[in-house]
Amino acid sequence: MNDMKISDDIKWIGASDNNLKLFESQYILEKGMSYNSYLIKDEKNVVFDTIDENVTEKWEENLERELNGKKPDYLIISHMEPDHAYNIGEFVKKYPEAKLVGNQMTFNILQNFFSDIDLSTKKVIVTEGDILDIGKHKLQFIMAPMVHWPEAMFTYEQTEKILFSADGFGKFGSIEIDDEWACEARRYYFGIVGKYGKQVQDVLKKAQGLEINMICPLHGPILKENLEYYINKYDIWSKYEPEEEGIFIAVASIYGNTLNVAKELKNILEEKGAKKVVVTDLSREDWAEAVEDAFKYSKLIVASSTYNMGIFPPMEQFLEHLRIRDYQKRKVGIIENGSWAPSAGRGMKKVLEEMKDLNIVEPIITIKSRMKKENIEQLEKLADEMLKD
Ligand code: FEO
Repeated sequence: MNDMKISDDIKWIGASDNNLKLFESQYILEKGMSYNSYLIKDEKNVVFDTIDENVTEKWEENLERELNGKKPDYLIISHMEPDHAYNIGEFVKKYPEAKLVGNQMTFNILQNFFSDIDLSTKKVIVTEGDILDIGKHKLQFIMAPMVHWPEAMFTYEQTEKILFSADGFGKFGSIEIDDEWACEARRYYFGIVGKYGKQVQDVLKKAQGLEINMICPLHGPILKENLEYYINKYDIWSKYEPEEEGIFIAVASIYGNTLNVAKELKNILEEKGAKKVVVTDLSREDWAEAVEDAFKYSKLIVASSTYNMGIFPPMEQFLEHLRIRDYQKRKVGIIENGSWAPSAGRGMKKVLEEMKDLNIVEPIITIKSRMKKENIEQLEKLADEMLKD
């Protein structure tokens, strides 16, 4: 279990859903999902975000235990997505005196989800830099639009120097599992926030001016030490820079012949000195893991069978996942396979050409059904080209 202790006045009151298999109905979870929520106890008691429907009961228990008979005065709404905001309706019924704190966009979205809540006496609208004084603690609001919805906002608690970072710095996985942060944080980042690199850069710039002792995200562990490591990862990811030198080979293969080509190419690359080559079978492996690896490594090779005179769908979907996440700044090689009219290569190239700053290696390699001797020579040439800087 991760250490979720924050301080005498600030308590973690979140919960994990260990049974959830699909986050946002699309991201495969093998180790559940955590949803964080926090309580600051002061002259005024402040709750940071409600919680996902599935863990309502655990959250209510944690909140009541920490309140110890007191009532919350404010609910800060960092993000309106239902994994955090689902319980706002119940919270309002249970604590009718509490004020809801958000920005204008928070309340626009809130009324879409909870049209029956009368906000007239509850709503506290904050803007960039506003400070809510709750006694010993002072809460400074930092707008973080599109990280990952337009209303998202961070809060900086000035006394204990704690940054409440909404989805920022979050990861997949239950809080009970103490695994490496970067792997599941990267998959989460590129899956969910990847498209919004510029907006992440904007909020990182605002955070640069703050002295931060701890980062409290809405998912994953509380980050307490070596904060530069996490901030640096977010900086690299949001600039779309490769994190590691390496070649990622993504394969969409119907009967395994294209996959064999990719495996052969991996061997050739390694023999020529490539330090890291990763092959992924897009039909069988997690698409979000493949997207993560495409962003992680410095170079990409796409290899696809031809299907219906175009790209085999697992590759078509993969490229679309990259395109909508603003994939850029990489060298890319293309391999196609087809038995009578190979055309996947042309299709892949067209999609890749729509992306920014890609160095597409020519020529496209064409395999006819199965790899042959002449193809090995072509793969050697492709490997040489890929290994040039
Ligand atoms: Fe954790 Fe964008 O919700």
